[in-house]
Amino acid sequence: MTKILISGGTGLVGSHLSSRLVAKGYDVTLLSRKSNKEGTLPVYAWDYTKSIIDEKSIESIDFIIHLAGAGISSKRWTKYQMREIVNSRVKSAEFLLDIVKKRQKKLQGFISASAIGYYGCITSDTVFVEEDAPYNDFLGNTCRRWEEVANKFQQIGIRTVKLRTGIVLAPQGGALAQLLQSFKFRVGVFLGTGKQYMPWIHIDDLCDIYIKAIEDMRMQGSYNAVAPEQITNMELVKKLALYTTKPFFFFGIPALLLRIFLGKIANMLLNGSRISSRKLLQSGFDFKFPTIHEALVDLFSHKKR
Ligand SMILES: NC(=O)c1ccc[n+]([C@@H]2O[C@H](COP(=O)([O-])OP(=O)(O)OC[C@H]3O[C@@H](n4cnc5c(N)ncnc54)[C@H](OP(=O)(O)O)[C@@H]3O)[C@@H](O)[C@H]2O)c1
Repeated sequence: MTKILISGGTGLVGSHLSSRLVAKGYDVTLLSRKSNKEGTLPVYAWDYTKSIIDEKSIESIDFIIHLAGAGISSKRWTKYQMREIVNSRVKSAEFLLDIVKKRQKKLQGFISASAIGYYGCITSDTVFVEEDAPYNDFLGNTCRRWEEVANKFQQIGIRTVKLRTGIVLAPQGGALAQLLQSFKFRVGVFLGTGKQYMPWIHIDDLCDIYIKAIEDMRMQGSYNAVAPEQITNMELVKKLALYTTKPFFFFGIPALLLRIFLGKIANMLLNGSRISSRKLLQSGFDFKFPTIHEALVDLFSHKKR
């Protein structure tokens, strides 16, 4: 049985992905900062800051999926938090690389999350493709460094895939839950002008991309994990209004106010360009939810169950 170790596997993506992998017959083990012997899947403790890992977690593993990382928008971007965002992705990946090298693990693949932040917090006319250079801002540099460590797995002969992920839409939690908050007060809120693009992906499609990255040996390098349909923040908020409590009115939170209350994170929310999914489509990937309409119909049907 193919054994897959997922770092940060307890989070939004990891919990969906691990259920899907188990259903497909994979042997799945999770790495977490807290061990949990009671869960349905084995969860082993690690602490990359102290180079600690439960040795059982790495016994006969075939693939590592690296999802661990401190939340990008969960806390204000203080110097400490920015360091945490970088280190929890980059240093943790370096620690995994070190283990693979020292224990001479014969991995079939290393698959790493990355993010569309690679292309920068900017609004432009460009439709970004995988060959484009990383942007020189905080998220661009974070993603570049995250991917550089992944590339070191490739350099030691391990097939490596990096998934530059858009905003993940899932039935519970994540960005959708945040976007829906204002609808409880019958208000549809967009950010700044609302004209910034919000590259997105349905959680099921994202899990299918990870599964394809495991199973399709031809996949290698970086892929934009975003849905083909490109929509702006305002378009998304207006679409959400069709599926939830009808808002009395819509309004845009002024950029200045967001910058005052959220600090540097505001830049990420106020900007966004289009990102191409062409490479993924050319690799033969078939999106179940290529349009936001199809995605929301499915996500809201889960909420009603
Ligand atoms: N969700 C999105 O919209 C989105 C978009 C683009 C990219 N991504 C990337 O995809 C990956 C998975 O996303 P997700 O939404 O599943 O994230 P998530 O729900 O926040 O889960 C990430 C996991 O990383 C671990 N983690 C958190 N802080 C950590 C730290 N300081 N050091 C080490 N581990 C830490 C946590 O596991 P334990 O508490 O069990 O240790 C957590 O469950 C992340 O790297 C994220 O940046 C996500």
